[in-house]
Amino acid sequence: MGFSSKWVFVFTLFSFIKLSISDPRATEAALICTNRTAAQSDRQVYVATFLEAMDSITPLVGRDKFGAVINGTGNNTVYAFGECMKDLSQTDCNLCFAQCKTQILRCLPFQRLVTGGRLYYDGCFLRYDYYRFFNESLSSVDRTICGNTSFSGNQSLFSENVGKLARDLEFGGLRNDGFLTAVVSTGNLTVYGLAQCWEFVNGSACQRCLSDAVLKIGSCTPKEEGRVLNTGCYVRYSTQRFFNNSASDTPPAGNGGGSNRLAVILATTLGISAFLLFVSAVSFFVRRKVLKQKREKKQLGALIRTVNKSKLNISYETLEKAANYFNNSNKLGQGGSGSVYKGILPDGQVVAIKRLFFNTRQWVDHFFNEVNLISGIHHKNLVKLLGCSITGPESLLVYEYVPNHSLADYVFDTKNLQPLTWSQRYKIVLGTAEGLAYLHEESKLRIIHRDIKLSNVLLDEDFMAKIADFGLARLFPEDKSHISTAIAGTLGYMAPEYVVRGILTEKADVYSFGVLVVEVVCGKKNNYVFKNTNSLLQQLWNLYGMGKSYEAVDPLLEGNFNKEEASKLLQVGLLCVQASAELRPSMSSVVKMLTENHEIPQPTQPPFLNSGSSEFSPFNLHGKRFFGQPSSSTQSSGNKLTESWIEPR
Ligand SMILES: *[C@@H]1O[C@H](CO)[C@@H](O)[C@H](O)[C@H]1NC(C)=O
Ligand SMILES: *[C@@H]1O[C@H](CO)[C@@H](O)[C@H](O)[C@H]1NC(C)=O
Ligand SMILES: *[C@@H]1O[C@H](CO)[C@@H](O)[C@H](O)[C@H]1NC(C)=O
Ligand SMILES: *[C@@H]1O[C@H](CO)[C@@H](O)[C@H](O)[C@H]1NC(C)=O
Ligand SMILES: *[C@@H]1O[C@H](CO)[C@@H](O)[C@H](O)[C@H]1NC(C)=O
Ligand SMILES: *[C@@H]1O[C@H](CO)[C@@H](O)[C@H](O)[C@H]1NC(C)=O
Ligand SMILES: *[C@@H]1O[C@H](CO)[C@@H](O)[C@H](O)[C@H]1NC(C)=O
Ligand SMILES: *[C@@H]1O[C@H](CO)[C@@H](O)[C@H](O)[C@H]1NC(C)=O
Ligand SMILES: *[C@@H]1O[C@H](CO)[C@@H](O)[C@H](O)[C@H]1NC(C)=O
Repeated sequence: MGFSSKWVFVFTLFSFIKLSISDPRATEAALICTNRTAAQSDRQVYVATFLEAMDSITPLVGRDKFGAVINGTGNNTVYAFGECMKDLSQTDCNLCFAQCKTQILRCLPFQRLVTGGRLYYDGCFLRYDYYRFFNESLSSVDRTICGNTSFSGNQSLFSENVGKLARDLEFGGLRNDGFLTAVVSTGNLTVYGLAQCWEFVNGSACQRCLSDAVLKIGSCTPKEEGRVLNTGCYVRYSTQRFFNNSASDTPPAGNGGGSNRLAVILATTLGISAFLLFVSAVSFFVRRKVLKQKREKKQLGALIRTVNKSKLNISYETLEKAANYFNNSNKLGQGGSGSVYKGILPDGQVVAIKRLFFNTRQWVDHFFNEVNLISGIHHKNLVKLLGCSITGPESLLVYEYVPNHSLADYVFDTKNLQPLTWSQRYKIVLGTAEGLAYLHEESKLRIIHRDIKLSNVLLDEDFMAKIADFGLARLFPEDKSHISTAIAGTLGYMAPEYVVRGILTEKADVYSFGVLVVEVVCGKKNNYVFKNTNSLLQQLWNLYGMGKSYEAVDPLLEGNFNKEEASKLLQVGLLCVQASAELRPSMSSVVKMLTENHEIPQPTQPPFLNSGSSEFSPFNLHGKRFFGQPSSSTQSSGNKLTESWIEPR
């Protein structure tokens, strides 16, 4: 082996070792939510702004390992800041941050809007709030979190070492731009530490923050582990080596750590003995890595093989290019689970690419299994899934591109479009019903959509309805945060038993479908915040009682519609929004009612109406009042029940 090839070998193996200790430290240290509430009417806007902020901050963190953004206006402004620990590689930083982003949603339950949240991971930090907090250093919610196990050796020596480590971190951190790792060893007793001030906390603010942290962290001894989570900085010590200082250019503190010293020896010695030492070290790491790989292979191997072989797999680079690097001008829309971009694949095919807001690496095997299954679902009224990418920095789904806007754009006239004709509306309602009947009853999977609303029904060139986003909820089965963001955007369409008790069956989709039918026929939104006593469903119910429901039909049609068909559609709509889930028809019987001359049953009252009273009243379940108060004074007090199942853990 020649001199240079030996070094190539050494460096190759050396990078191998570094790889084997790579760790994004995506473990939670603490989640701190602040409990200011905002007016209910602001919630949807606030949640949307929050999601925008998360979208804008991700590329910044992906480039600089920190980022700050300000989105929205007035009371709906969201300030967000994220940063990774400086010892993480960019890849590990991306992984940590992606996971952090999904978990901070736990601060955002929908009934009691929380306007601030901080999530400390051991590898990264994310905070959002309603004011400019970027340079803050200390606050009353700062925490000290100590480990569970006590150190079993010489405790006075241990405390001494932790104290020395803390001082090294404090002074070293200040000299070194707010970041330092340190090691203190005495005999066989070693403690490791890391301190970091956030990017915009510098100078005296960083000093205040670190001094405070160092005072507090001593209280954790004799625990083997301690963390101080201050507003402007993070300090941790542990008996385990937890950080990466292999490429650190910080001044050595304490007596230096194990593999760092190995690196120094190897880098400076050319002797055969060092080489032999190195080879044995390498074989140790290689063995460990092989074992680890074996373990991972068991879990992931089958999956990755399937993905790579599958036609569904499209590389991240291809998709990124197709969507013009997710340029804003390619953006088609923004939903609770991610934003959608228009893209053109190399073969010229136009597609819609969804960037999942949720990091699916955590559920990667589950994810691909589901995607595989969902991609096997074919129906003319469902948007077709063409592929996905799960190996890039974020997960992407590729759908067929449906060119003609969403139903919401037409019915709520957000884009100055020609109003839909009667026959178009009838066809769209029927198509949506057929798509849902397929999902519920005919597909191999029993899929509950959970988020049927006008903006999730897309229209093709021939105004055929295509349901989007089906099956997505299945990817996040345990994830309450997904449910709460979906809820936040879609309150007007939610079945009462789902909102109140979290009971989810196909009949929740039937309810949402009923609301959709009424909205499409009447050309109005069924707002959940009823400003006055005349809600859309109430008006319709009254007209239905007088046998004149066709009077509720969209005036934009100027009478150009079939009265019989209109009465039939509205009666079906009212059947679907009945309070009792058992009384709502199945989707296949809805299809029959719309296509055959079936007898249509009489609907009972929708859930929000008090029987025998024409006066508006919020719907009443278990003696609790729910949203829909005409006056705002009692709004925040009546929501106890729903809180219990979306409360942050
Ligand atoms: C350690 O940190 C350096 C510098 O940030 C980085 O280049 C390297 O990839 C990191 N190694 C690991 C294993 O994270
Ligand atoms: C939450 O509100 C309660 C009472 O309104 C208050 O005492 C408490 O300090 C608040 N907690 C936080 C973290 O702001
Ligand atoms: C959010 O704010 C950042 C900068 O603070 C900006 O670059 C981005 O375009 C904003 N996003 C939206 C959707 O307004
Ligand atoms: C913002 O909120 C405050 C207090 O909740 C309220 O007084 C103020 O009118 C709101 N401003 C706007 C622009 O909505
Ligand atoms: C933080 O920044 C604001 C301006 O954005 C400034 O007024 C304030 O003095 C700063 N605070 C500290 C502690 O630097
Ligand atoms: C420490 O103990 C608490 C409560 O028993 C437990 O919830 C937590 O997971 C433990 N932490 C660790 C790191 O073991
Ligand atoms: C513990 O360490 C201290 C030095 O810090 C030493 O004086 C003492 O003798 C040690 N105790 C035991 C039991 O080893
Ligand atoms: C470290 O040394 C102490 C005494 O010097 C001994 O009691 C202890 O078992 C040693 N610990 C380890 C892990 O070797
Ligand atoms: C603090 O950091 C900001 C941004 O990095 C910089 O603009 C500012 O000059 C710094 N202030 C001090 C006192 O170092």
